[in-house]
Amino acid sequence: MANVVVVGAQWGDEGKGKIVDWLSERADVIARFQGGHNAGHTLVIDGKVYKLNALPSGVVRGGKLSVIGNGVVLDPWHLVSEIAKIREQGVTITPETLMIAENTALIMPYHGELDRAREAQVAVGKIGTTGRGIGPCYEDKVGRRVIRVADLADQATLELRVDRALVHHNALRAGLGLEAVDRDALIAALNAIAAEILQYAAPVWKVMNELRRAGKRILFEGAQGSLLDIDFGTYPYVTSSNVIAGQAATGVGLGPNAIDFVLGIVKAYTTRVGEGPFPTELHDADGERLGTRGHEFGTVTGRKRRCGWFDAALVRQTCAISGINGIALTKLDVLDGFETIKICTGYMLDGQALDYLPTAADQQARCTPVYEEIEGWSESTEGARSWADLPGAAIKYVRRVEELIGCPVAMLSTSPERDDTILVTDPFED
Ligand code: GDP
Ligand code: IMO
Ligand code: MG
Repeated sequence: MANVVVVGAQWGDEGKGKIVDWLSERADVIARFQGGHNAGHTLVIDGKVYKLNALPSGVVRGGKLSVIGNGVVLDPWHLVSEIAKIREQGVTITPETLMIAENTALIMPYHGELDRAREAQVAVGKIGTTGRGIGPCYEDKVGRRVIRVADLADQATLELRVDRALVHHNALRAGLGLEAVDRDALIAALNAIAAEILQYAAPVWKVMNELRRAGKRILFEGAQGSLLDIDFGTYPYVTSSNVIAGQAATGVGLGPNAIDFVLGIVKAYTTRVGEGPFPTELHDADGERLGTRGHEFGTVTGRKRRCGWFDAALVRQTCAISGINGIALTKLDVLDGFETIKICTGYMLDGQALDYLPTAADQQARCTPVYEEIEGWSESTEGARSWADLPGAAIKYVRRVEELIGCPVAMLSTSPERDDTILVTDPFED
């Protein structure tokens, strides 16, 4: 039995949601292991659009277990409203189909306020966060002052946790010119939502180990992308968690030997939302065309995504960091109609050729991409469901991507629709 990890191999929004939804037919359990509702995963099934932030993308299929693991930061109020919205679309969510780890850190309203207040400090330059309190919550987790799911079950513990958090936050808020948090109102709000959240709470590490022993197939759903990873991304323009495949095990309470296949999700070009370096970014008509054809607007904040050519050097790097066994190449159809397509194969830095993006910010800024040009295709690949439907030039592009990143294509995606997908190698069977 194989367990599969899905991770984004660029700056997020690669199409993880669509691929996780497609693969979840073959899985028993779908688990989120990091990030929070900064994620925006879009699924299109027979024309019906589902937008998920905190819930795993497997929820829309009946009969699967969805898991929110301890590596996630969870906004309980957001979760309740997301569940209500998704139920309105006809999806069933019950404590039998959704499980939340008891040791999951909770995002409080003051986390979002702090996130947004910091982003407003123009003097130091913003990160371009989603403003949802992700960073401040992870800081509190590591700072040992976060409120966790299990704390909601006991009044005395809850009050102790709130008091510990507020010593820190009220001091910080005073410095930022924010009002002190109303302790009693916060405790009342937590008490009001506690039962709703606790009905899904479980010792996820235990259940996951039992499911694994029983031979169930686990699909781990990553959020964000490897270049937003707190350690390996373009720091400080990153998110506040490890998003790479190694986190999948830690983020639910399984050992690293539980992972059998790592599937990297890779867009056929590159996008990024928020600030930070982006060597192949385009500021011309080609960039506009990618954004328009690819509908590149963020699901969470509605911001326009920055667009550029495919960066094989970066994906080669992220394939290594996550131990990617195969990629799902998405949005190939967006490249239809380009006369020529460019691929970045490496960089020039101060007259020297580099085959990876260096860590130092000043060096990243001085790196200029080295491109090779590939012939485009005029035919449509939209909705293609087999290799035979693809024009020769598109196949050549895919093959060249494989060569340059040193990793085979396991899946191809040619439209937002669930079934407009080409399976080359089944990650669960490989
Ligand atoms: P995620 O965050 O990685 O799940 O990706 P998002 O859902 O934020 O962004 C990907 C967008 O591209 C969504 O609107 C998808 O519906 C859409 N999409 C996914 N795969 C394809 C594809 O192969 N072709 C096209 N044209 N759109 C796709
Ligand atoms: P999915 O799962 C794209 C970006 C933000 C910002 C940086 C830090 O849909 O691929 P944060 O709010 O996490 O502190 O913001 O990370 N970011 C994403 N970009 N896709 C995402 O998720 C993202 N989640 C966070 O735009 O640059
Ligand atoms: Mg997204």
